[in-house]
Amino acid sequence: MKRTIWTLATLTALSCVSLFGADAKAGQAGYDKSCKGCHGAAGIPSLAMAKAMSVPDLTSAAVLGKSDADLVKAVKEGKGKMKAVTTLAGSPEDVIAYVRTFKK
Ligand code: HEC
Repeated sequence: MKRTIWTLATLTALSCVSLFGADAKAGQAGYDKSCKGCHGAAGIPSLAMAKAMSVPDLTSAAVLGKSDADLVKAVKEGKGKMKAVTTLAGSPEDVIAYVRTFKK
């Protein structure tokens, strides 16, 4: 019984993807390589990209208001016109932690 409770507690903790310990600095290299082309150096897409693909502004409340889990999921599984980024150097959690540093 004790073991079941422990297992449940661990699973619950693991299922809440948390950016605790994510390293924004480490995420920068991955962002610059895999995301910058569409999203711009600081999360604001070029006008051309924004128009061509409706790339959202990553510094907007609409994006930053979402949970880390949602944003990590967009990278891992893709979202709308954005395909899953499978060639990312480093962890998606680190990259999202870096994206969070763009906030105005
Ligand atoms: C080919 C261009 C392209 C690349 C490369 C790209 N994105 Fe995106 N991204 C988009 C587009 C387009 C959307 C809007 C998707 C939609 O909602 O239709 C988007 C949406 C997002 C969102 C918002 C998700 C949401 O729930 O609102 C985040 C966060 C994001 N991208 C992060 C990243 C990160 C981090 C990388 C690199 C690992 C990356 N993107 C690479 C085009 C791109």
